[in-house]
Amino acid sequence: MVEIKVTVNGKQYTADVEPRVLLVQFIRDVIGLKGTHIGCQTGHCGACTVLLNGEPVKSCQILALQADGAEITTVEGLAEDGKLSIEQESFRDHHAAQCGFCTPGFLIMTHYLIKNHPKMTREEIREDLHGNYCMCTGYQQIVDAVEDAQRKYLEQQSAKKQSKF
Ligand code: FES
Ligand code: FES
Repeated sequence: MVEIKVTVNGKQYTADVEPRVLLVQFIRDVIGLKGTHIGCQTGHCGACTVLLNGEPVKSCQILALQADGAEITTVEGLAEDGKLSIEQESFRDHHAAQCGFCTPGFLIMTHYLIKNHPKMTREEIREDLHGNYCMCTGYQQIVDAVEDAQRKYLEQQSAKKQSKF
């Protein structure tokens, strides 16, 4: 067993893990946050996507001990004070989920993309989401939701700038 320390959604955790335990297993089974889903376990579907030190990773492709000392954000970390995040609101408003299995991964990617590439075209959104699969929605509503989340994010940023003057 190896001791690791991680910060998940702002909360610190210390745990002993077997070296073979995957990050997604650690998040779900040790910490108990079940919002991050396990799909293919081969790095293709994106259901297990989380942010590791601010960068999206497929947590089925990383060992928990590789995340020692890291800051992790899971889908449970998006809402603040019980209020849905921009991404969650947009996915709800655009009916961008059906069974919902893929949704945590898409929400984490959307959270990352609107902050890091906030002027994406629809084509760029599709390209940037190429590592996340959805078996239900046909993607149209997902792209609509990401576009909407991006618009809200930019409006929020511009309101923040104006309030400084
Ligand atoms: S479960 Fe990790 S990419 Fe599919
Ligand atoms: S909503 Fe079912 S897999 Fe995406």
